Amino acid sequence: MTITPPALSVFETLESEVRSYCRSWPAVFDHAQGARLTDEDGHTYLDFFAGAGSLNYGHNNPVLKRALIDYIERDGITHGLDMATTAKRAFLESFQNNVLRPRDLPYKVMFPGPTGTNAVEAALKLARKVKGRESIVSFTNAFHGMSLGSLAVTGNAFKRAGAGIPLVHGTPMPFDNYLDGRVPDFLWFERLLEDQGSGLNQPAAVIVETVQGEGGINVARPEWLRALSDLCHRRDMLLIVDDIQMGCGRTGAFFSFEEAGIAPDIVTLSKSISGYGLPMSLCLFKPELDIWGPGEHNGTFRGNNPAFVTAAAALDAYWADGQMEKQTLARGEQIEQALLAICHEHARLGAQFRGRGLVWGMEFTDKSRAVAVCARAFELGLLLETSGPRSEVVKLLPPLTVTPEELDEGLRTLARAVRETA
Ligand SMILES: Cc1ncc(COP(=O)(O)O)c(C=O)c1O
Repeated sequence: MTITPPALSVFETLESEVRSYCRSWPAVFDHAQGARLTDEDGHTYLDFFAGAGSLNYGHNNPVLKRALIDYIERDGITHGLDMATTAKRAFLESFQNNVLRPRDLPYKVMFPGPTGTNAVEAALKLARKVKGRESIVSFTNAFHGMSLGSLAVTGNAFKRAGAGIPLVHGTPMPFDNYLDGRVPDFLWFERLLEDQGSGLNQPAAVIVETVQGEGGINVARPEWLRALSDLCHRRDMLLIVDDIQMGCGRTGAFFSFEEAGIAPDIVTLSKSISGYGLPMSLCLFKPELDIWGPGEHNGTFRGNNPAFVTAAAALDAYWADGQMEKQTLARGEQIEQALLAICHEHARLGAQFRGRGLVWGMEFTDKSRAVAVCARAFELGLLLETSGPRSEVVKLLPPLTVTPEELDEGLRTLARAVRETA
């Protein structure tokens, strides 16, 4: 599966050095369907990456594609800023009927710019405006995006250094199990809040991922999330759950925090909300927090109407009943069993795994092994990325629509990649 240099030369000469995924996967991809991509040389790859969580329903999902083609063919509005459109109305109604109402979550819906970090910026700005305070608490190994506000609550030193200016008004606290269970949860955080001499300004909000997707597939326990929610209530801090990667069914339920039984004040969604890989993001918040003035937080691309069309089609097709959640949990068990077997076979490498729903991570004593495993997996036709501050975790993120047979195939390839790099 060698790629001739001319096929990649324009990317190497013209595209910025900042490019990353194309370095790990040196192929020129041409088309894709479901859980498979094909490159221009006709090689196919099984996708355990799913557009970093943006393709939960697979590539070119036929139901979503039909809705999109029909909309484009009838000259539906493509660009509409935040004008009222039929596509936006259909999305809002579908979101209300399939997601918010059945979960008794009376959130207001805000359309920030189209990317995840746009939603995070809106959430932080709103929390500061509501509370009239500047400080935000985030967690070790958090990832919330690459714009300056989001970077200020992100852990990764390499990404933070790219800011080039001080990243202020964010304070990191230990994520669940960061201290190996040796210290009671929130002991440090609560002590700082209580102590007038601690130097911690009273925070406006706490921002958290229930599973840290970029930070190493660190899974927060439901009881830890409940204790965090309780702490936020007691200490007058808003709770923001960043569900950009773990929402839209990735962990089973539509929202990843449902399992913990909490109702955050603010929720960010992006990645798979359009379902088709089209840029779209949402900032959801409790109605009493909706103190924005008209146009106070604004942007040209807040009305990606083709994304509204595929988003509504995805919600209607997959979230009108509980089937998707059940299927994801069943597929998750399939992965868990396979990872258990791989870790058992490679106990001497210190192989360990963790995850929820259809997001899993595997780690070895030798922190550099994950990169080698993913590189070998690519040669064997499987797309897998790494996660964690040292790229030390092999990350499994297949589309939710993956079949049991495809999962089995990918997991066997992963087992082979681990064996061949051991
Ligand atoms: C939890 C979380 N928040 C925010 C972002 C940023 O999203 P985007 O890359 O679309 O700006 C990501 C992206 O990986 C993410 O995983």
